[in-house]
Amino acid sequence: MALVTTKEMFAKAYKGGYAIGAFNVNNMEIIQGITEAAKEESSPIILQVSAGARKYAKHIYLVKLVEAAIADTDLPIALHLDHGENFEVCKSCIDGGFSSVMIDGSKHSFEENIKITREVVEYAHSKGVTVEGELGKLAGIEDAVNVRPEDSSYTRPEEVEEFVSRTGVDSLAIAIGTSHGAYKFKPEQCTRNEKGVLVPPPLRFDILKEVEKRLPGFPIVLHGSSSVPQEYVEIVNKFGGKMPDAIGIPEEELREAAKMAVCKINIDSDLRLGMTAMIRKHLAEYPEHFDPRQYLADGRSALREIVRHKIRDVLGSSGKI
Ligand code: G3H
Ligand code: 13P
Ligand code: ZN
Repeated sequence: MALVTTKEMFAKAYKGGYAIGAFNVNNMEIIQGITEAAKEESSPIILQVSAGARKYAKHIYLVKLVEAAIADTDLPIALHLDHGENFEVCKSCIDGGFSSVMIDGSKHSFEENIKITREVVEYAHSKGVTVEGELGKLAGIEDAVNVRPEDSSYTRPEEVEEFVSRTGVDSLAIAIGTSHGAYKFKPEQCTRNEKGVLVPPPLRFDILKEVEKRLPGFPIVLHGSSSVPQEYVEIVNKFGGKMPDAIGIPEEELREAAKMAVCKINIDSDLRLGMTAMIRKHLAEYPEHFDPRQYLADGRSALREIVRHKIRDVLGSSGKI
């Protein structure tokens, strides 16, 4: 099995009412945890690489590790650039072996976004690589994205047909209330359920429905879709960490979106959280350990279980190879 593009994956996901998980990768343990889970669940998968990941691990190491994961699992895997900032970064990933790229022109004007997205699409398609564009601005702060909540904006459905037809993108990321990172909402934006757990405002399914109506059969992408499982937040906090009021998107809402036009759901923070929680726990329980393999193995196992759960219970992509 060689790397695959997202084309066929998305066509099948759209028809089947499920979504493909796009998980961010930064090192060997993360790649192994994700792909072992996908293998156990017989699920197609997207491994995505941010600018920060390329800086941390180096492009070549990530490409070779993903090649190794394909040889090891024989799974259909797409290797995707997450939040490509400009043409040069996208070109470097297209030339450097990726099968899919995102050009994130969402911070630009509508016309400028179309212009740079179109340029990437022309180059990518000439090399058989698929392209994701973005309309609307998600809030959140990460290495590559830094949008304050007051600067975020929902996707305007009336713009999507023109954007897709003028750019030729293969999929479109939209903003319907998700956001990047582990602190997606302030407690004052939320209500509390009977157990005292913070419940965020619901996603804007009305916008998703309108986009779906205007772009029938076209794959939609949701970024910022970690759910920030509270059991892991509690482990982090119990073993010396400090993550007060971390809050994510309820998994039931993502499951609903996956049944609709959403074919790709991006998850990074939940993997970071699960891995860090179990490494903290390991080091607290075994203070004498100093071999990284001992605690990294626990981090990798946690990550594998989180990805299995996402595939089975949130994305619905088990057995869809
Ligand atoms: O959307 C951003 C991803 O979570 C990647 O984060 O830029 O810190 O690698 P990063
Ligand atoms: P989270 O921070 O919610 O995991 O989102 C990740 C993402 O959108 C990567 O592009
Ligand atoms: Zn993102």
